[in-house]
Amino acid sequence: MVASLDLLLGVLAAAAAVAVGPLGAQASAVDNAQPVAGTALERRADRDWRLRKRATTTDAAQLAGQTFDYVIVGGGTAGLALASRLSENSSLSIAVIEAGTDGSAVEDEVLAPAMAYFGGIANADSAYDWQYSTEAQANLDGREVFWPRGKMLGGSSAVNGLYMIRHSSIEQDSWASLNNDSSVWTWDTLFPYLKKSETWTPPSDYHIQEASMVLDESLHGLDGPVHYSYPGLFYNSTYEWIPTFAALGVDTRDPAGGENFGAFIATSAINPSNWTRSYSANGYLVNYGTNLVVLTGHQATKIVFDGTTATGVEFSAGAGNETFTVSASQEVVLSTGVIGSPQLLQVSGVGPSDLLEGLGITVVKDLPGVGMHLADHLSGAITLNTSFPFSGDPVEANATYAAEQLALWKAGDANSLYTSPNDAVAYINLTTLFGNDAAQTFMDELEANKTAQVQAYSTNSAVQAGYDATYSAELRDVYPSAVGQAEILLSNTGSYGGYPGAVTVQIQAAIQHPLSRGSVKINSTSTFDKPMVDAGYLTHPGDVQVLRQAFKYARTVSQTPPFSEYVLNELSPGDAVSTDEEWEAWIRKVVSTEYHPASSCSQMPESFGGVVDTSLRVYGISNLRIVDASIIPISLSAHATAPVYGIAERAYDLLLTTPRGEGGSASSTQDAAAQSSSSSSSSSSSAARSSSTASGSPSTTGTSNAATKSDGTSAATSLSPVSTLATLLVALGTLVVLA
Ligand SMILES: Cc1cc2nc3c(=O)[nH]c(=O)nc-3n(C[C@H](O)[C@H](O)[C@H](O)COP(=O)(O)OP(=O)(O)OC[C@H]3O[C@@H](n4cnc5c(N)ncnc54)[C@H](O)[C@@H]3O)c2cc1C
Ligand SMILES: *[C@@H]1O[C@H](CO)[C@@H](O)[C@H](O)[C@H]1NC(C)=O
Ligand SMILES: *[C@@H]1O[C@H](CO)[C@@H](O)[C@H](O)[C@H]1NC(C)=O
Ligand SMILES: *[C@@H]1O[C@H](CO)[C@@H](O)[C@H](O)[C@H]1NC(C)=O
Ligand SMILES: *[C@@H]1O[C@H](CO)[C@@H](O)[C@H](O)[C@H]1NC(C)=O
Ligand SMILES: *[C@@H]1O[C@H](CO)[C@@H](O)[C@H](O)[C@H]1NC(C)=O
Ligand SMILES: *[C@@H]1O[C@H](CO)[C@@H](O)[C@H](O)[C@H]1NC(C)=O
Ligand SMILES: *[C@@H]1O[C@H](CO)[C@@H](O)[C@H](O)[C@H]1NC(C)=O
Ligand SMILES: *[C@@H]1O[C@H](CO)[C@@H](O)[C@H](O)[C@H]1NC(C)=O
Ligand SMILES: *[C@@H]1O[C@H](CO)[C@@H](O)[C@H](O)[C@H]1NC(C)=O
Ligand SMILES: *[C@@H]1O[C@H](CO)[C@@H](O)[C@H](O)[C@H]1NC(C)=O
Repeated sequence: MVASLDLLLGVLAAAAAVAVGPLGAQASAVDNAQPVAGTALERRADRDWRLRKRATTTDAAQLAGQTFDYVIVGGGTAGLALASRLSENSSLSIAVIEAGTDGSAVEDEVLAPAMAYFGGIANADSAYDWQYSTEAQANLDGREVFWPRGKMLGGSSAVNGLYMIRHSSIEQDSWASLNNDSSVWTWDTLFPYLKKSETWTPPSDYHIQEASMVLDESLHGLDGPVHYSYPGLFYNSTYEWIPTFAALGVDTRDPAGGENFGAFIATSAINPSNWTRSYSANGYLVNYGTNLVVLTGHQATKIVFDGTTATGVEFSAGAGNETFTVSASQEVVLSTGVIGSPQLLQVSGVGPSDLLEGLGITVVKDLPGVGMHLADHLSGAITLNTSFPFSGDPVEANATYAAEQLALWKAGDANSLYTSPNDAVAYINLTTLFGNDAAQTFMDELEANKTAQVQAYSTNSAVQAGYDATYSAELRDVYPSAVGQAEILLSNTGSYGGYPGAVTVQIQAAIQHPLSRGSVKINSTSTFDKPMVDAGYLTHPGDVQVLRQAFKYARTVSQTPPFSEYVLNELSPGDAVSTDEEWEAWIRKVVSTEYHPASSCSQMPESFGGVVDTSLRVYGISNLRIVDASIIPISLSAHATAPVYGIAERAYDLLLTTPRGEGGSASSTQDAAAQSSSSSSSSSSSAARSSSTASGSPSTTGTSNAATKSDGTSAATSLSPVSTLATLLVALGTLVVLA
């Protein structure tokens, strides 16, 4: 196998050499800087600063006791995008507080695209992961499901599977319809912001042709901070993907413009000039000025309120460490993610009053939807023994081979397996999954089951109304449409060493619009304790039926030419599973997260258990917004990162164009905003001064960068424990789907 692989790499090297030529030029650093006032000399000094290596600090004193215009909690996917945009305005001062490190000690693990698949750092032994698990899931045979979340600058965008897949216009318009003003969050309003994050580079003509791709440059952004591109090496199985779906009557198109149906090769967050991961830290946190201070290694422990106005944030390095306070003269923004944002609100007194009172927390605002409406894509895979020339198996099974491939990647070689995350997907609609008549019967049953589900989910009438609203919207707009109810994914990265000697490929299946709902609830007043995450998996009886049909479809794909010409046999689940009952029992045993939880602080009316309004302001609280995946009110047939970048880009404009002030109360906040913008201009400039003093010393920042870099972990040492873990996961029968 290795010999044929070497041969293949030689063949592809020749092809890729032709293809890769001009890409380096397009991948130059993105400069978001707006014109800066002052003399030419001052402007040059400013630019010089902006061109310096990004500087962050671990020194709490740079925030403690200071006042900034904006305090952003969470330096993750959304948080850094928003902070970077705000910092383009040099008269604003911004502080970011991130619990994790800057990630420089795990540079290879972050930057090598396929490292996330071949081990990576999103695992239960990693300091770069929050290491959450769900509560025992009754409908998954009592299993607790590991829920990774990135803990470092860049957040989950630093550890994820690099898929960059936007959702559909149908879903976005359905989301918009949940709000009182349904015109604010439509596809047409969001699409420009989705594109704004993107610099798209097409693959080589050779790859386009071999993989039968259809691309449309007009649907893409061409000068945004994050690279959306394609890997250097395409696995041969990828070439069979689109033709196999065509044989099944499923077509292909460029999915980036709101029609993400059918089969396609997804964009990945890859900088094609050197095949490195492009994520919020190296995409957005590049060209910022002295007005932005990023503190790592410190966790927000509480939002500080003056009455119901957010005035700042308390933070600390650890449960036993000193607690400091930083103040926000304009607004506090939570970008702490789908678990962190409801947790931080709840410990701060914003959430379901019964939950908070039970823990002795003073209720600042009774907001029953905080932590509710949580929904996640549940997924698994069938595993195939194939005659494809190679897959990721040897990288996972053979440390010597893995080291060779990593060295090739470091040398910038497009043919290293480390350039290549998984990327072939298909979004399959309900009628294709069930057949026309059965699909209609299924939807009728979903409608009939709605009231019982809603009542079983929560006793709170607002939360019930919100569940009813999202359930109804999905059933009305999404289920009968062309939008995918299941995602089918090709995984070339092997079977984690499970079948020595075989070239394994997996076909994964994931439900996209689960009607099951879960919750995030604190059981402690400290953010250093993990909250209880109940994913609510398969609590709606329809979800397991969608998944069952999706897995049957995945098997059909494996049995359809041209793909089937390479399939020797199905290794898992194999012949023992074929009836509906057998599929459902197997599903309960093996499925896991597709890593796309959302909706725990949903944007809906307050009477629906919503948490933020259309301006992302928290109901009943002034000067507090949420900008991250938690605000997405319905499940999207997408991978969450691309939508989250769009949300963050839109949030930047909303921060500037909608008044700060209490969520949901537009008219009174107009006045508040007018007052605050005049009163804050003095505090704003003093904050800018104090923050520039804090972060503006080149010697301090230079030293701290050097210090962090020096404790870098070598790739070789980090690989082996990870493949051990992977083997263990297979042994436990847990399918790992990195998405
Ligand atoms: C293993 C994995 C694979 C995935 N694969 C894909 C994929 O291939 N494609 C895709 O599109 N999506 C994928 N996702 C999902 C996607 O990455 C996330 O949905 C998205 O990045 C979430 O963005 P966010 O801004 O909401 O949260 P995050 O990016 O997670 O940011 C939250 C940040 O807040 C910090 N934080 C939390 N609490 C505190 C606190 N109290 N104080 C200070 N800081 C705090 C965290 O450390 C983190 O940096 C994957 C996720 C994971 C975990
Ligand atoms: C990759 O290329 C970009 C320029 O496009 C550069 O900024 C970055 O440092 C490079 N990364 C590595 C690891 O070489
Ligand atoms: C920059 O911020 C200041 C202070 O809030 C504001 O007055 C100004 O309009 C902003 N400029 C831009 C270009 O957004
Ligand atoms: C928004 O809509 C909800 C649900 O229809 C309703 O309860 C609420 O009063 C409305 N709010 C406003 C400000 O119109
Ligand atoms: C936090 O407290 C621990 C234990 O006292 C100490 O070792 C550590 O240095 C403290 N960290 C910071 C950043 O203050
Ligand atoms: C994979 O298929 C080959 C060829 O039929 C066979 O020799 C091998 O045993 C199979 N591997 C597994 C793990 O079933
Ligand atoms: C991989 O696919 C390409 C394009 O179809 C083909 O030329 C090549 O021979 C294949 N490689 C192997 C080893 O089969
Ligand atoms: C592991 O990879 C090395 C380097 O490619 C190779 O020489 C060796 O034969 C491989 N070992 C096995 C067991 O396949
Ligand atoms: C579902 O997908 C199939 C195959 O792509 C297509 O023919 C059909 O029209 C789609 N159904 C809807 C409702 O769009
Ligand atoms: C709270 O829940 C978490 C997550 O399930 C668990 O680890 C922890 O032990 C629980 N703490 C208490 C005090 O019950
Ligand atoms: C509807 O509810 C019944 C009773 O719980 C259940 O047997 C059936 O599977 C459900 N169907 C759907 C599509 O939810």
